Amino acid sequence: MDSIVLIGFMGAGKTTISKELASTIDYHRVDMDDVLVERIGPINRYFEEHGEASFRQHETKLLKEAVEQSSVIATGGGVILQKENQNVLANKMVIYLKADPEVLIERIRNDKQNIRPNAANKNDGEIKKLFFSREKLYEKLAKVTVDTSYKTPQEIVQEILEKV
Ligand code: S3P
Repeated sequence: MDSIVLIGFMGAGKTTISKELASTIDYHRVDMDDVLVERIGPINRYFEEHGEASFRQHETKLLKEAVEQSSVIATGGGVILQKENQNVLANKMVIYLKADPEVLIERIRNDKQNIRPNAANKNDGEIKKLFFSREKLYEKLAKVTVDTSYKTPQEIVQEILEKV
């Protein structure tokens, strides 16, 4: 089977759901942010030292590699921004994990382990603005959409499996 690619905003549950989904269907899993940290170091530090554009180049290269591996792929929230990535994703089983902006913000703020450069220094209004600026792209690229706001990982995975 082809790769299953999870997209969605920061805090949508891509990492958590990728683990649950990959173990349920016994698939290899790629967490793009984890691989990028191995390659370039902590993402927030990389943004500070080299800028977002350079980060996106690494991310774009990795997406191409990851989709070749028959995996469940947890992407980073901004992967949909690059035209090149949009073209890659157009032919893939892309699942959009959506959630209410308030829920996303709460999850982002509670996740103390993961300092996200595109959220850490933003207030709630700015994060919502970023979310709304990307929402149409997530929707456009998705073959399947699942709302993760108020469901358990198991419920979300069952819903994905019913829809793919
Ligand atoms: C980003 C999301 C992050 C990470 C980087 C940029 C974004 O991934 O790739 O901090 O611009 O939305 P998560 O969606 O896993 O937090």
